[in-house]
Amino acid sequence: MNTPSAREHTAVREVEPSMTGEAPTEHDRTPAEWWRTAVIYQIYPRSFADANGDGMGDLAGITGRLPALHDLGIDAIWLSPFYTSPQHDAGYDVADYCDVDPIFGTLADFDTLQHTAHELGIRVIVDLVPNHSSSAHPWFQAALAAPEGSAERAHYIFREGKGQHGEFPPNNWESVFGGNAWTRLTNPDGTPGQWYLHLFDTTQPDFDWDNPWVRAQFRGVLRFWLDRGADGFRVDVAHGMIKAAGLPDYTPPVEGGSMGGATVTEPGIIAEWAETAPYWAQGGVHEIYRDWRLVLDEYPGERILAAEAWVDPLSHVAEWVRPDEMHQAFNFAYLETPWGGPTLRRVIDDSLTAFSAVGAPSTWVLSNHDVVRHASRLALTAENLQGHGIGPKTAGLPDTVVGLQRARAATALMLALPGSSYLYQGEELGLPEVIDLPDASREDPTWFRTNGERYGRDGCRVPLPWESAAPSYGFGPTSASWLPQPAEWGTLARDAQEGVPGSTLELYKLALRLRREHALGLGAVDWLAGFGDPIVHFRNGGVVVVANTGTEPIELPAGELLLTSEPLAGRTLPGDTTAWLRA
Ligand code: BGC
Repeated sequence: MNTPSAREHTAVREVEPSMTGEAPTEHDRTPAEWWRTAVIYQIYPRSFADANGDGMGDLAGITGRLPALHDLGIDAIWLSPFYTSPQHDAGYDVADYCDVDPIFGTLADFDTLQHTAHELGIRVIVDLVPNHSSSAHPWFQAALAAPEGSAERAHYIFREGKGQHGEFPPNNWESVFGGNAWTRLTNPDGTPGQWYLHLFDTTQPDFDWDNPWVRAQFRGVLRFWLDRGADGFRVDVAHGMIKAAGLPDYTPPVEGGSMGGATVTEPGIIAEWAETAPYWAQGGVHEIYRDWRLVLDEYPGERILAAEAWVDPLSHVAEWVRPDEMHQAFNFAYLETPWGGPTLRRVIDDSLTAFSAVGAPSTWVLSNHDVVRHASRLALTAENLQGHGIGPKTAGLPDTVVGLQRARAATALMLALPGSSYLYQGEELGLPEVIDLPDASREDPTWFRTNGERYGRDGCRVPLPWESAAPSYGFGPTSASWLPQPAEWGTLARDAQEGVPGSTLELYKLALRLRREHALGLGAVDWLAGFGDPIVHFRNGGVVVVANTGTEPIELPAGELLLTSEPLAGRTLPGDTTAWLRA
């Protein structure tokens, strides 16, 4: 089953004149595929909901909480990896692409989750991690057991070291998580052997995607999940699978860090790295996606591919979503854009131009499991715009009140934009980054590989609060939680916000309902004049949006107020606040 039953996703249905108060335009009348306008909610299984009380989220926990996501009003979920894995990189180190890790449940639990989601009209996107496997994967274990030059070794990137005795790594590449990107083997007789490449952790060896055998295996993985009814794939490190011939030396413009942007010190810096490195954005990756697209197109029901590709500029990202490649690409340029009128107007224009040039929808995103949550990030100081992951010793820690107000305003702006938006679990509760995690509880390999110099991403991965008065705030039936939850989770818990006017949860629900009713995902941005630089002011179909990114209040133009990200006194819109008005 892959066609959601409870809610139709076609544009035709969503633009009935009775809903918008005006006749549909020609653009609106074009039946749109669901993914062009979808709001996709990212579930990080370790931290969403724990059914068995062991402190680690699981698939049964997710299933139990799906009705809450239906109430929220999202169209699809993207599940971060739940596959068999030693969990050295929280599941992005996969040891079996076609099974569920026992900590998360079983394949039957996945089927139940997917069936329940589909019954609720929610599509299910799974994560595909093709750049590397876990070192525990049988394919890598077979490569280790096989001799140099064997077919098994050719599935990965093994090379001789440099120097008289091969004692130096084959090139100077650094791991994204810090340290060397090569690890040397010890032969069965104890002598030092070949080196293997791992752009991430030592336990995440890179595949050799020039090898047809690897391509054939992954076609099989795609089919496995498509046959089970998955609605698509979020493709991890979709810009990294092909490496430049000869593996030439390369020194990045910044110290290595998470490709999730956790090390971004200024907008675009990771993108510059991605643009020039011999391991990112090599032209050969596109052949792989054209091949995968043919596989997806064999299946009914508009299955999709969404690229995690940290490349720049947006016109380059758009190459991943040409008509015969993927459907969506994450808009990290938008995520990285500082809170301000001119910068936001520019990135919105650039996004719409770049993606529409290839016939793809723009996507929008503010948070995910790799970056500082936007309720904190948007209040970081200029010298630390994005944060390297933030912790107690970070300079310029955010003001939480300012951060939350900006986050609500930023989300209200994002959800009014045409295209598809991604939400990250917990942002609908206004969760901030957890800054004061005890060092001993941290698990991100970035933390270990930099000897604590970079805090990494644990702060955005703390298990969710569902019930203010329950153990583990309702994350599970016991008080266990794989990362400790802060005391403020009590007031931020879902049940403390449910039905409370003005709560962040109710703001998200209202925005998602109005977005659907007014078919904003299908619309267009018509910029409006009348305000100064800090004001982002546009019309999308039947809705006028006014986002005040500055500090000076402004008087709103005429029109019925549909939504405000903060309560207003009269028609004065304070700084860091967004309003939607009926056009
Ligand atoms: C994922 C990260 C992961 C890395 C290696 C990223 O793009 O989003 O969470 O650590 O890929 O798989």
